[in-house]
Amino acid sequence: MSTLKINTQNLQNFVSKEEIYKFQPEIELHHQSLKEKTGKGNDFLGWFDLPNEITESELKDIENTAAEIRSKVDYLVVIGIGGSYLGTKAVVEALKNSFGDFQQNDGTKILYAGQNLSEDYLAELYDFIDDKKYAICVISKSGTTTEPAVAFRILKNHLEGKVGKKEAQKLIIAVTDKERGALKVLSNQEAYKTYVVPDDVGGRYSVLTAVGLLPIAVAGFDIRALIKGAQDMQNRCGNSVSLDQNPAALYAAARNALYAKGFDIEMLINFSPKLMYFTEWWKQLYGESEGKEQKGIFPAGANFTTDLHSMGQYIQEGRRVIFETLISVEKAQSLMLVPEDKQNLDGLNYLAGKHIEYVNEMAEKGTVLAHLDGGVPNIKICIEKIDEYHMGQLIYFFELACAYSGYILGVNPFDQPGVEAYKKNMFALLRKPGHEADSEDIYKRL
Ligand code: PA5
Repeated sequence: MSTLKINTQNLQNFVSKEEIYKFQPEIELHHQSLKEKTGKGNDFLGWFDLPNEITESELKDIENTAAEIRSKVDYLVVIGIGGSYLGTKAVVEALKNSFGDFQQNDGTKILYAGQNLSEDYLAELYDFIDDKKYAICVISKSGTTTEPAVAFRILKNHLEGKVGKKEAQKLIIAVTDKERGALKVLSNQEAYKTYVVPDDVGGRYSVLTAVGLLPIAVAGFDIRALIKGAQDMQNRCGNSVSLDQNPAALYAAARNALYAKGFDIEMLINFSPKLMYFTEWWKQLYGESEGKEQKGIFPAGANFTTDLHSMGQYIQEGRRVIFETLISVEKAQSLMLVPEDKQNLDGLNYLAGKHIEYVNEMAEKGTVLAHLDGGVPNIKICIEKIDEYHMGQLIYFFELACAYSGYILGVNPFDQPGVEAYKKNMFALLRKPGHEADSEDIYKRL
């Protein structure tokens, strides 16, 4: 199995090798403090050893539950928001067939709820699942987040009404704190099958716990291969902190060298629509980890070639504050050639017999060169193909690099105090008990 590669050659006109390698000693210290749990946010470092520490019995338990759900239902509604759903969505969307009702390998189809507060979304979901066989996996570390709590209340009622309370209890699985929170209390009361979000793993770092593994397994994907990919990346990065050996260290150093030169925006780009939600996961990981104390690289994303026809103009010629990190996939999994056409009205016969992926590859190379010429530096991350193993590598690679980067920036990469501000206002506006004092003030501002 091939390993992820990183290429920073295309930075040479923007930052020098010295400017990148000057982060080497610092990253060594940060790696040490992650290992010894001495840095900021050291109570949230459970993800660091997770791939190597997950046990056979944990994996077996998740696989057994997944097999049981798959034998009973056609749909699993994953209820969660932020780190409690993005990892699942990133992996499932990358691995599943882009079309059709079922996943490529005949898994149960995953639906999502609780990731927004849209009445239309919930009403449409409600209508859709009304005549379907479905189970629920409700995921909330705190057990009190408004969006999933609202969705769960609705879907729990629906499922109980449809199959009866007793059967519903067997079709609801909760992933939550080991002892605290409303969801834990309810799970005990209702005897739901429950999985724990470890105390020391934050939402955005939780995809390799039951938070992600259970729904990914229900979708029919190989969670052992996912873990193996992460494990191999953990071991590789653990073996050496040298920028020449450790890709996460090189990535963290390169992006911080660019940031120091005024490149404030990083766009994670891909040429495969399968990676669209991986970018969403990455945006949360980096945005919530780094964006604090009025600092941090702004994480953005684009899916090419689609977005070259919308964002391409700005990237090529707009403000010169953007750099790109490209996830380049070496092999497509399917075969599709450009056909010959007698009339050749579209002038495409010069491509007849060529793989679509070859055209895509030339688009990728041409785009990188054009953007470099336009003043957009490019870091390239290569994986052989989109499968469980390589997704596992990518996940751990980005998690570790994010921790290094946060420490380079001098922030605590594992908290998210800024997320509370909107909640405080929303609760005051909703007149949630306990928030009455803020209500009068906030209504005056509307
Ligand atoms: O990364 C995080 O910590 C957040 O995005 C949370 O995952 C998100 O807010 C959901 O929280 P909870 O799992 O407590 O419902």
